Amino acid sequence: MYLRAIQWPCLVALSLALWGCGDAQGPAGDTARPVAIQNANHPGAKQYEAQCVSCHGADGLGQEALNAPALTTLDTDYVARQLRHFREGIRGAHPKDSSGATMAAISTGLDDSMIENLASYVDSLPNTLPPTTLSGDVAQGKDYHLNLCSACHGSNGLGNAALEAPALVGLNDWYLVDQYGKFAAGVRGSHPDDLWGMQMARLAPAITDDDIIESIATYLAAQPATD
Ligand code: HEC
Ligand code: HEC
Repeated sequence: MYLRAIQWPCLVALSLALWGCGDAQGPAGDTARPVAIQNANHPGAKQYEAQCVSCHGADGLGQEALNAPALTTLDTDYVARQLRHFREGIRGAHPKDSSGATMAAISTGLDDSMIENLASYVDSLPNTLPPTTLSGDVAQGKDYHLNLCSACHGSNGLGNAALEAPALVGLNDWYLVDQYGKFAAGVRGSHPDDLWGMQMARLAPAITDDDIIESIATYLAAQPATD
């Protein structure tokens, strides 16, 4: 808390200055972002800065141009499991999963204690929301979320640790659509050791209409990132 109190004013000032640059920073402000590492004394901070910031950002909000998602609302257990799964070829090894392969290549160099520190560091990032990119039907999205997704991901979309279901609020809308498509196509969640991914893969065929997935993503992207 003490550290964050010192850093926040600088970060806010920096991000305001960068956002203010507008067009000079490229489309959708993807590069117009704070660069200072947060929670610098955390045991995972240095490694996150060295190996993760280039794609996921110092704010953890991801970068669409690199297919790298926002991580801020994900909890320690979920992040650690994903990093282990990428490392062990349980996620990101399908021949059609090129963005998963990027993350798998990075994860092969991580040992268990690095993974724990990185996951805890990612969990410590403030829960902020990434920019939205979709404009689906919010009412339809809410309806589908409450009927088909909330039982596992929570009615507020912030996840349910007891069911190992991650937060969907806080993910980039484009990433949610992309991953849903991967589950539906058997590109994610088809490895026999991917017990939790399999649950999603079994559910995914329930919706085949892309417009409906986009509506769910649009609805969730507009929900608050904290309780
Ligand atoms: C070269 C770019 C790149 C770098 C560097 C990178 N990532 Fe990723 N990361 C990605 C991409 C792309 C994905 C999306 C994978 C997919 O489509 O399944 C991803 C996905 C993830 C996920 C899964 C998120 C979710 O919602 O399931 C986690 C966790 C993650 N990265 C953490 C990290 C950490 C920690 C580091 C540093 C050790 C790191 N990444 C470095 C590109 C990168
Ligand atoms: C039976 C429980 C269950 C239901 C119902 C469910 N999910 Fe999931 N979902 C999971 C679990 C468990 C995971 C974590 C998979 C893993 O660990 O790789 C997950 C993961 C996801 C992911 C990947 C998140 C990320 O960060 O990469 C997306 C996207 C997703 N679910 C969307 C949905 C949507 C949209 C619905 C409703 C249409 C839904 N889920 C319904 C259990 C469920």
